[in-house]
Amino acid sequence: MSDTAPARRLHIKTYGCQMNVYDSERMADVLRPLGYGLTDEAEGADLVVLNTCHIREKAAEKVYSELGQIARMKARKAASGGAMLVAVAGCVAQAEGAEIIERQPAVDLVVGPQAYHRLPELIARAHRAAGERLAADFAAEEKFDALPARSGATGVTAFLTVQEGCDKFCSFCVVPYTRGAEYSRPALAIEAEARSLAARGVREVTLLGQNVNAFAGDGGLGALVRRLAKIPGLDRIRYTTSHPRDMDDGLIAAHAEVEALMPYLHLPVQAGSDRVLKAMNRGHTAEHYLRLVERIRAARPDIALSGDFIVGFPGERDADFEATLQLVREVGYASAFSFKYSRRPGTPAAAMPGQVAEEVKAERLARLQAEIEAGQAAFNGAQVGRVLPVLFEKPGRRGGQVAGRSPYLQAVHCEGPERLIGEILPVRIVSAGRNSLAGELQMARA
Ligand code: SAH
Ligand code: SF4
Ligand code: F3S
Repeated sequence: MSDTAPARRLHIKTYGCQMNVYDSERMADVLRPLGYGLTDEAEGADLVVLNTCHIREKAAEKVYSELGQIARMKARKAASGGAMLVAVAGCVAQAEGAEIIERQPAVDLVVGPQAYHRLPELIARAHRAAGERLAADFAAEEKFDALPARSGATGVTAFLTVQEGCDKFCSFCVVPYTRGAEYSRPALAIEAEARSLAARGVREVTLLGQNVNAFAGDGGLGALVRRLAKIPGLDRIRYTTSHPRDMDDGLIAAHAEVEALMPYLHLPVQAGSDRVLKAMNRGHTAEHYLRLVERIRAARPDIALSGDFIVGFPGERDADFEATLQLVREVGYASAFSFKYSRRPGTPAAAMPGQVAEEVKAERLARLQAEIEAGQAAFNGAQVGRVLPVLFEKPGRRGGQVAGRSPYLQAVHCEGPERLIGEILPVRIVSAGRNSLAGELQMARA
């Protein structure tokens, strides 16, 4: 992300999920009226924001090592008579608060995910070197009301947060503590934002929420999708992340009936063993999940399914892990993310007996990933010979190529001029790799 010739240089580094990507964009929007423009370089910037993730131990630790480097940049800038403000935003900010400043004194500001609309005020106070350095408010409502219209550079695709927070309290997860209670934005405000994105050339919008399908507006997420699908120019709608418990009939029906709703669904199950699912406090069994997948596939037979998995949850035995492998085979995922269980202080699972040894976790993760990759290869391979509509988003890695996404969210590249970016065109898939498809354009621009 970079704008031209700003009065003040702002560098934002984003970790974690898509919600953080959205928040980073909105922070830039909040700061733009103050003269801040984005730069890709942290060195020499006037304001550096780390938008952090707390989900696993490694993610949180990365922030502190990055802060060490930024502290040195800040010192270099000070030595040459300049000033750099350092802000920590996101889920580590919410979880650790003022501790961050204690551990890394170079940090000027700590601002949680529901408080970044207050950045202008916090920055002004920091410049006066007096006052509040920590903002960890918890009301998403106030933030959305206070945010300015979106004003940054837009591409062909965009994220749009419609829901925030989580009331599920899976026993391993920090999100309910860092993002607060479930909150849904008013449909009217979402529609207005989607219209402004479409007017600025966005053709695909991904609706975001920690539990996006818990969206509580009238008629749920299915009704919201139908409403947004009417916006001229908005040809593709996606949403993420969904919880199996919130996958209602209205949303499933939308998959059957709304053309703009893409046939891709990220529906994490986490594990295939009911014992483990219970200890995780997921509120569903493996059977419930499999029946749900059946219903979704009845509505949209070609849908690409994706998921998240945790291996080595406390108490997970070999037989439990085998049940996870079995479920993966049964569902046939188009892609999936898998993680070793990471003990997060303050969550119930951190105190559970039967913590699994690191070597066992590593071995299970490798086996699970092999299974997932096999499924992914099969799904990608099955597209060869088909003609898929591809939304071109950017130049390809090699010269003379353009790259985009299939309806199933697969990366597709083919020979073609850059002017095709922003177009949806039919592409014949000629070969499939693990992470992308190669194709041939079927016709020139209509
Ligand atoms: N709200 C989403 C995603 C939450 S975080 C959902 O409920 O699916 C993204 C993924 O990180 C989770 O799905 C889970 O697989 C993983 N995750 C969360 N906490 C974790 C932990 N303590 N250790 C390992 N993986 C974790
Ligand atoms: Fe975390 Fe569970 Fe909420 Fe997802 S549903 S954010 S995994 S607590
Ligand atoms: Fe990480 Fe917070 Fe997202 S913990 S995954 S950045 S909600």
